[in-house]
Amino acid sequence: MRAAAVFHPIWNWFFDESLPVYVKNHYSPNAAWKERPFTDVDARFFLKGVRELSSYFTEDRDFFKPGYLNHGKYRSSYLLYFLPLQCAKFYLQMASRPEAIEAILKRGCEKNRLAIADIGAGPGTASLAFLLYALAHHPKQLPERIELTWFDEAGAMMEDGVRLVEDLERHFRALEGRITIKRVIGDWRKHRLLASEQYDWLLFGNILNEISPNSPEGQLRFDRAMNLWMEKSGVGGALFIEPAFRTSGQLLSQIRDQLLEREKKPQIISPCLHSGRCPFASGRDWCHFSVLAKVPGKWFIYLSKGLSAEREWLKYSHLWITFDDRTPVKKPLPNERLVLTDSLIKNPKAPQLYLLCEPEKAGRLQLSPSQPKLHRGEHYMMRSGAERAAITTAPRREQNDEDFRERPKSERPERRNDDRRMKIKKRPGR
Ligand SMILES: C[S@@+](CC[C@H](N)C(=O)[O-])C[C@H]1O[C@@H](n2cnc3c(N)ncnc32)[C@H](O)[C@@H]1O
Repeated sequence: MRAAAVFHPIWNWFFDESLPVYVKNHYSPNAAWKERPFTDVDARFFLKGVRELSSYFTEDRDFFKPGYLNHGKYRSSYLLYFLPLQCAKFYLQMASRPEAIEAILKRGCEKNRLAIADIGAGPGTASLAFLLYALAHHPKQLPERIELTWFDEAGAMMEDGVRLVEDLERHFRALEGRITIKRVIGDWRKHRLLASEQYDWLLFGNILNEISPNSPEGQLRFDRAMNLWMEKSGVGGALFIEPAFRTSGQLLSQIRDQLLEREKKPQIISPCLHSGRCPFASGRDWCHFSVLAKVPGKWFIYLSKGLSAEREWLKYSHLWITFDDRTPVKKPLPNERLVLTDSLIKNPKAPQLYLLCEPEKAGRLQLSPSQPKLHRGEHYMMRSGAERAAITTAPRREQNDEDFRERPKSERPERRNDDRRMKIKKRPGR
């Protein structure tokens, strides 16, 4: 995916008007300011919390204690900066497969009810992306009822999301009276509701990243929760979006492989072009993508600049599956391959080398420097048998994700004395 993406004006209304007004109203320290418009002064004030939260996400996995987003300072920061950032990834992913979204809406219209579970919902980021996308592009195809179930340990964060959805509903007649939101507070893996309800769509946004990769217990609970959900008849599909780093990308690849081993197999909407074993489920390389997209929004851009993280590319790993046979899934041509990297060769005058996704093993494709350059996420049409990649793996590449990068402990900066950690009661069992 490389095309600079276009966001609908509804996006700007939501992120430049509705959201900042809400945040100022609920999180401004000075009661007298609450009713005034959101200005640069507010953006500067909230930037401090955004910086702090951003550093926790990128440098400190220990930060992820249950309910960490219940703290007001971090909630306001998440809403103003991370909500638009993560929402944009879901929105673009949905925009890349409009036919799959149409099929989901159609399924809901036929039953007069579309049931969506948003796992680790936070402020309902993935659900909001769906509502904004559907409202902007399919306002006449909305099901009579859209039932959202949000699972999260941070009840207060979900509460903010509910208020924002209510504002969206108040503002756009097409949504009025259609949406219900059920909030389920606690560890989603332990919750029976996920298994007992029949959801049309499961949305997972930046949540698997928070299950400790070294915890077999965490992994087991994940498998069990997913298995219970999938054993039900008539389940729809699932979309996972996770950070672009190796642990997340490889976990998604492993989940994909497990799903494809089941008797009731899903079809893969994105990103895979084959249903053989993923060559990137372990080892040095992993599957992740970059989308060329400037996320619009005056305040998002302001905060990005404040973080020195102005964004032209959105980076993430993802997996989109469906169990619904009526969802159109693009069938790749036999010579079509997914390009997994930009060129691994720095010198533009030398032959260029790319990693391709072949079943079981990574393929390497060498092109002469005069041929057009390929980019991560593009599809490449093999022109001849001779061009088929040699089945070997490529040199190690550095992981690259600015949103939630995890540094080894030895490389982390010393914490300053005034950098007080928020205190969250540790709960047993995680
Ligand atoms: C990085 S935030 C992502 C929020 C939202 N999905 C998004 O993409 O913006 C991760 C969320 O997962 C929640 N969370 C983490 N582990 C959880 C668990 N085991 N059960 C329920 N929620 C969990 C956190 O409270 C937090 O709200």
